[in-house]
Amino acid sequence: MKRVAILISGGGSNMVALAESMVGDHPARPVLVLSNVPGAGGLARAQAMGIPTAVVDHRPFGRDRAAFEAALQAELDRAAPDILCLAGFMRVLTEGFVTAWAGRMLNIHPSLLPKYRGLDTHARAIAAGDTQAGCSVHEVTAELDGGPILGQARVPILPGDTAGTLAARVLPMEHLLYPAVLRRFAEGDKSPVLLP
Ligand code: GRF
Repeated sequence: MKRVAILISGGGSNMVALAESMVGDHPARPVLVLSNVPGAGGLARAQAMGIPTAVVDHRPFGRDRAAFEAALQAELDRAAPDILCLAGFMRVLTEGFVTAWAGRMLNIHPSLLPKYRGLDTHARAIAAGDTQAGCSVHEVTAELDGGPILGQARVPILPGDTAGTLAARVLPMEHLLYPAVLRRFAEGDKSPVLLP
């Protein structure tokens, strides 16, 4: 049984979808929800699901990313996860941390990578006149939003869409894509999940 830690910074809707999927004959179970933001909404949702939680506030560490990550690692050592899922986790991780978790850390990004790495993905897709948008799950490497793609889900961009209406169309697809990718990944299958 694979042990999965989920890292969040906010509401944790992707964390909930992942946690709810890890039941029955699923080869993985959630062992920790870890946030860099005290009071992040996802922490209460994880606690309500009976999942252990922890907080490592990044602010006291200032610019010392390595010290912050050492504190993250200390929490992770306690939970001993096999797989890390970044789910709305909004801190950039150093090459050292990413290398330590190479091949065992996933992230979901709200664009059809390699397009629109970074922030404000939906606004950028609309501004570019794209007719499609979506989300991607990828292995995390030192290159921000740049690792091997493990799954993608596409949605149409409709006339009059705003970043908000597009985000609302993409988010439910994230909640389908990420659990599907995690299940395959936990089974050792890296063949991409493509939705719909
Ligand atoms: C989602 O758009 C996800 O793609 C991005 O963070 C946003 C919030 O995710 N990574 P969640 O609701 O906190 O899971």
